[in-house]
Amino acid sequence: MSVEEELKEIKELCELCNNCSLGETRTNIVFSDGVPNHKLMLIGEAPGYNEDMQGKPFVGKAGQLLDKIFESVGLSREKDIYICNTLKCRPPNNRDPLPEEKEACRAFLDAQIEILKPKIILLCGKVALTSMLNTSSGITKVRGQWFEGPYGSLMMPIFHPSYLLRNESHEKGSPKWLMWQDIKEVKRVYDSL
Ligand code: URA
Repeated sequence: MSVEEELKEIKELCELCNNCSLGETRTNIVFSDGVPNHKLMLIGEAPGYNEDMQGKPFVGKAGQLLDKIFESVGLSREKDIYICNTLKCRPPNNRDPLPEEKEACRAFLDAQIEILKPKIILLCGKVALTSMLNTSSGITKVRGQWFEGPYGSLMMPIFHPSYLLRNESHEKGSPKWLMWQDIKEVKRVYDSL
């Protein structure tokens, strides 16, 4: 089976999933977008309103900013990135995912990682960070650092674009400026692989 077929099989299982109560309130599952690239995967938090309606991750304002950030270093979801979330269903009112929801959804994320075996995994925001790294450090402390990930991958926590939308400044040391440093480092390693 090809990678695409394996992912399709998992997506079909996900569409039937009722492992937690979000199965009752979702409009669509939000499984992934972008290309099944073995080099770069991004894991976000959970679908919001727009994502739930369209069945695609990061299509709202935060997603548009994320696309712009990647485009600034010549990367795009059409060519280079596989994008998914920690949770495949929208938590009502965009509340934080509950531990039991993360637990119920974990097998889907693990399967995506196992099938793709991406070389770089970006942990976008604190939910992805705490799901993938056993750390009590906040995102501000660990963003921009490389950690060992599954299947020999390199994982880097990065700020969530929603956080960047709430922080206007582009000044040196600001969250947007730090994100720009991190994404340049990601591109440097991406090109070296
Ligand atoms: N925020 C996320 O973390 N994921 C999405 O898909 C949309 C917004």
